[in-house]
Amino acid sequence: MDALRIGMLGFGTVGRGVADLLLTHQELLSHRAGMPLRLVRIATRNPEKDRGLSLGGVEVTGNVNRVVEAKDLDVVVELIGGIIPTRDLVSRSMENGKHVITANKALIAEFGTELFAMAHSRGVQLNFEAAVAGAVPVIKALRESLAGNRIDLIYGILNGTCNYILTEMREKGLPFQHVLADAQEKGFAEADPSFDIDGIDAAHKLAILSAIAFGTHLDFSRINKEGIRQVSSVDIAWASEMGYRIKLLALARLQDGLLELSVRPVMVPDRSMVAAVEGVFNAVFVHGDFAGTTMFHGRGAGERPTASAVVADLIDLARDLRVGSRKRVPSLSVPVHHLCNLPIQNASQRQGSFYLRLAVIDRPGVLAEITSILTKYSISLSAIHQKGQSHVDAVPLVMVTHETTEARIGVAMDEIERLDSVLEPPYMIRIEAQLA
Ligand SMILES: NC(=O)c1ccc[n+]([C@@H]2O[C@H](COP(=O)([O-])OP(=O)(O)OC[C@H]3O[C@@H](n4cnc5c(N)ncnc54)[C@H](OP(=O)(O)O)[C@@H]3O)[C@@H](O)[C@H]2O)c1
Repeated sequence: MDALRIGMLGFGTVGRGVADLLLTHQELLSHRAGMPLRLVRIATRNPEKDRGLSLGGVEVTGNVNRVVEAKDLDVVVELIGGIIPTRDLVSRSMENGKHVITANKALIAEFGTELFAMAHSRGVQLNFEAAVAGAVPVIKALRESLAGNRIDLIYGILNGTCNYILTEMREKGLPFQHVLADAQEKGFAEADPSFDIDGIDAAHKLAILSAIAFGTHLDFSRINKEGIRQVSSVDIAWASEMGYRIKLLALARLQDGLLELSVRPVMVPDRSMVAAVEGVFNAVFVHGDFAGTTMFHGRGAGERPTASAVVADLIDLARDLRVGSRKRVPSLSVPVHHLCNLPIQNASQRQGSFYLRLAVIDRPGVLAEITSILTKYSISLSAIHQKGQSHVDAVPLVMVTHETTEARIGVAMDEIERLDSVLEPPYMIRIEAQLA
């Protein structure tokens, strides 16, 4: 094999970055990969569009079959995104004997099981370092560098848009909607931001990380997801006052044979390393029984950081092919037939302490009504705060519980919500006080 012949699907943000990197660092990449990485062809929806790159002899076409069915390509780099038509394009590329590299977390998280099985049966590689945390090399680290460890906890900040919004809300004291609109204007949030702010994007990435960490089948549907729409300036301010920061945390924890999988806003101690991950940055923390806690931090998105991860996968592929290895490292760390299913911990049985925010009319007896309901469900409080006074408008009442279960909090909140003096549905945020 005298060169790795590359076809690319999609020429948007990441596609442009990959083309740029491949053309800019040709010699360096050739030395590292042991052969030239030759970008032969790009198929994209609008092939005429100027991408501001000098492409030399690279063909740009509007016909995806010129990549998927081409005989003169070794690998297809899928950078279109989403499920349709990528699921079909990736499957057909592998059926045609091509290796595939993708940055598409939705595709891997939702259809990875069928795609890895296909890759295995066709004897091709399917790699996806760029799908989680952009430039941060966490997939490779989990699969290879930490392969000797039994992992029991993996958590992180996997969505830069949410982290940017929460950071801006805290630093500038601005409300959620205002910061979201500003993020959309600056290009940090999509016009339809629901994938990011409802926790779906982070859950896709967590599904991938937990499958590798725990050797399980990919199962996105089992992740408990809650986004950041309900986080208010009041919550951010109280968190700061109590020594916490609010983060959208993706967490997978294996305890007593049960796997907890969640993406949700949590309060973390403001002196923890996870609290210090701010703005658009991503970070992943992995706890292994021998390594202890390891932290990976960096740029989780953007043209150049994401291209860096895609090209690392291309170099790995070239190195494998050069020595005649079809696949030295299994995509999910263990061969597909060794993947298992672990029982999921029932969310309601999870223990923890919680921050509760209520909107109440401030009149005598309200607090007694609320605390008597909490007492009924054996929920005790470590703190209770109220600011402002009004007999007509809602005033925020915030409380922090001692250790309890989410199930108890849930039934108590249902009952509290029915009180005349409670004007909005209560909101709760779990406190994760033990994270690094
Ligand atoms: N952006 C990031 O920072 C980032 C980070 C990590 C992972 N990712 C992942 O990388 C992938 C690409 O993201 P992106 O941000 O580069 O997306 P993007 O800027 O929207 O680019 C998508 C590209 O796909 C092309 N395309 C769309 N539908 C097509 C079709 N049916 N046939 C052929 N081409 C089609 C578009 O064509 P035209 O331009 O010709 O119209 C565009 O070039 C996604 O899976 C995303 O989740 C992105």
